[in-house]
Amino acid sequence: MADMPADFWSGWIILLSVVSFSGLVWLVLSVYFRRAGPERGQVTGEDPVWDENLHEGDNPAPFWWFWLLLAAMVFSVLYLMFYPGLGSYAGALKWSQGGQFAEHQRHFRDEFAAPRAALAGQDGATLAANPAAMAVAAKLFQEHCAACHGGDARGRAGLFPDLRDGDWQWGGSAEQIEQTIRQGRNAVMPGWQPVLAEPELRAVADFVATLPAGAGAEHPGRATFAQYCAACHGPSGDGNPLLGAPRLNDAIWLYGGTPEAIAATVAGGRNGRMPAFGARLDDLQIRLLVAWLTAPRQAAARAP
Ligand code: HEC
Ligand code: HEC
Repeated sequence: MADMPADFWSGWIILLSVVSFSGLVWLVLSVYFRRAGPERGQVTGEDPVWDENLHEGDNPAPFWWFWLLLAAMVFSVLYLMFYPGLGSYAGALKWSQGGQFAEHQRHFRDEFAAPRAALAGQDGATLAANPAAMAVAAKLFQEHCAACHGGDARGRAGLFPDLRDGDWQWGGSAEQIEQTIRQGRNAVMPGWQPVLAEPELRAVADFVATLPAGAGAEHPGRATFAQYCAACHGPSGDGNPLLGAPRLNDAIWLYGGTPEAIAATVAGGRNGRMPAFGARLDDLQIRLLVAWLTAPRQAAARAP
C-alpha cells in the first residue's frame, strides 16, 4: 500500500464517489419516471403482497420528495465543484480549513494591533492599574491557568498552589513570576524514606509542623532538619526560591501542615510541575498575567 503513487487513492476515491453518485441519480430518476408512467397506482395481482391488501409498488412517491432529492443532488454537484470533497481535488474556490483559520487570525491581529501596541509600551504597574488590561489578563488566566489553579487563582490543596496568598515558592518578583510562566518549574523534593529511620522521620515532620509557631531549640527533630533539610529549606525554614523549596515557617502549606501530612511529604517526596507557557503565550500575554498576579488588587485579596 505504501508504494502506491500519492494520487492513486485520490483517483480511487473520486471514481467511487462519481460512480455511487451516478447510481443515486439513476435510482431517483427511474423512480420518478415509473411514477409518471400510465400504469401507476394499479394492482396487477402479480406484485408481491406484504400484508393482506398492502401491495408492492402501490403508492407513488410524492413529488416533493423527488424535488427535494433533485435539489440535494444539484447542491452536491455544485458543492463538489467549488469546495474540496472529491479526493485531493481542492475545489474551484480553493477553500481550506487552514486557510480560513489563517484568515481569521489575520482579522484578529488587524483588529487588535492598535490596542496591543498601546499596551506593549506600558510597564507592569501601569498595566496593573488599567482595568481593561486586567480584564484581558483575567480572561487569559481563565483560559490557560484556571484548569489547575482554579478560576479564582486559589489553587487546590495538595496539587496546585494558591497564587493569591503572597507566598511564592519560586519567588514573587515580576521577573521570577515571568520565568515561572515562561519556562515552567519542576520542583524536586526528594523522598526520605530510604534515608531516615521511622522515629527520625516522625521527629523531623513534627519539628517542621511546629516551625510556624517557633519550635523549641531542644526539639528532637531539629538536628535531623539541620542535617538533611536546611540545605534546601534554609536553617530556619525560610525556603529558597532558586530551588522552589517552600518556606516552612509560615502557616501556608501546599501538601498539608499536620504532622501526618508533613510526614507523608517527607517520606515520599514531592514533584510539583508547572508547565512552560513560553511557546503558547506571547510576550504581552505573559506580561499581562504577571501584572495581574502581582496587582495590588491581588494583594488586597490576600488580607486574612
Ligand atoms: C533538594 C532540596 C530539598 C531538600 C534536601 C528537602 N526539600 Fe523539602 N521541598 C523541596 C522542594 C523543591 C519542595 C517543593 C515540592 C513541590 O512543590 O512539589 C519541598 C517541599 C517540602 C514540603 C511541603 C511544603 C508544603 O507547602 O506542603 C515539606 C513539608 C518539606 N519539603 C519538608 C522537608 C524536610 C523535612 C526535609 C528534610 C528531611 C526536606 N524537605 C528536604 C526541596 C527540598
Ligand atoms: C497543568 C496544571 C497547571 C497549569 C495549566 C498552570 N499551572 Fe501554574 N503551577 C502548577 C503547579 C503544579 C505548580 C507548583 C509547582 C511546584 O510544586 O513547584 C504551579 C506553580 C505556579 C507558580 C509558582 C507559584 C509559587 O509559589 O512560586 C505560578 C506563578 C504559576 N504556577 C502561574 C501559572 C499561570 C500564570 C498559569 C497560566 C498561564 C499556570 N500557572 C498554569 C500547575 C499548573
